Amino acid sequence: MSKVIFITGISSGFGKHTASLLAEKGHKVYGTTRKEIEHDPRVNVLYLDVTDLPAVEICIKTVLEKEGRIDVLINNAGMHTGGAIEVAPYDDIRSQIDTNLMGAIHTIRAVLPAMRKQGEGTIINISSIGGLMGLPFQAFYSASKFAIEGLSEALRIELKQFKIRVVVVNPGDFHTHNTINRKNVYIRDNNNAYEEQFKKSLTIIEKDENGGWPPEILARKISRIVESKNPCNRYVVASFEQKLAVVLKYILPGSWFAKILEDHYGIKS
Ligand SMILES: NC(=O)c1ccc[n+]([C@@H]2O[C@H](COP(=O)([O-])OP(=O)(O)OC[C@H]3O[C@@H](n4cnc5c(N)ncnc54)[C@H](OP(=O)(O)O)[C@@H]3O)[C@@H](O)[C@H]2O)c1
Repeated sequence: MSKVIFITGISSGFGKHTASLLAEKGHKVYGTTRKEIEHDPRVNVLYLDVTDLPAVEICIKTVLEKEGRIDVLINNAGMHTGGAIEVAPYDDIRSQIDTNLMGAIHTIRAVLPAMRKQGEGTIINISSIGGLMGLPFQAFYSASKFAIEGLSEALRIELKQFKIRVVVVNPGDFHTHNTINRKNVYIRDNNNAYEEQFKKSLTIIEKDENGGWPPEILARKISRIVESKNPCNRYVVASFEQKLAVVLKYILPGSWFAKILEDHYGIKS
């Protein structure tokens, strides 16, 4: 059955491929972007910065006026700040949280009155493996995704009575614009104490991402979630090693798991 789907951040990466695939499958897809893009003509494009609450409310209202319902909300828009906690500028930290966390909160709150009235709906929040473990030099990104985890867990329980499902997707490393779009900061106010280590770790982070899976794989997974009658609460979409890391995080003593991350990211002791 054709669904009305609202997905944020379709200018590139997961959003672009997911929006196209869902439209190809016959769903009515409304996708948001902040800039002029060449887009799949089957996707209805809306201009939106998810940090702008009034704009989010107008966008959702526009879709509801046209379609009368929104069956699926996919919170995909996101950005990535790289750098040590001590030197990242506050503006970048705020922007990280405003986009990845507040952006999702804005769309969720805007869509909920309609979904409650419908008596059904699905909210898919794109988190990350970085939402399940604190990644060095990507702390604010991890913090924003950990927040998505907590938000989704609580939301799922609150929405059960309204038959609205909350699904979290945790992608591992994928090759998207995320890597070139990441804002990296390693020196601030002449503090370059982290520069050498950050650059070393960043090389590993970028190698992992550039060697990651293509976004089409995640798009196919999201499409299956959208079409599933009974989706799971969580989908970790990642390599065997990354899935193993998620399991190890929960079974190993904290210091052992930290050592695994330190070794992986080339952190000197
Ligand atoms: N790639 C990975 O390895 C990976 C792994 C785990 C999780 N993720 C998550 O997956 C999601 C999609 O990322 P991606 O990998 O596909 O990266 P991407 O290619 O950089 O796409 C990110 C999308 O988010 C949009 N966006 C950023 N800030 C926005 C804002 N303030 N308002 C509205 N849209 C905004 C971007 O639009 P503009 O073009 O306007 O900037 C772009 O369309 C993100 O939530 C990311 O954290 C990615």
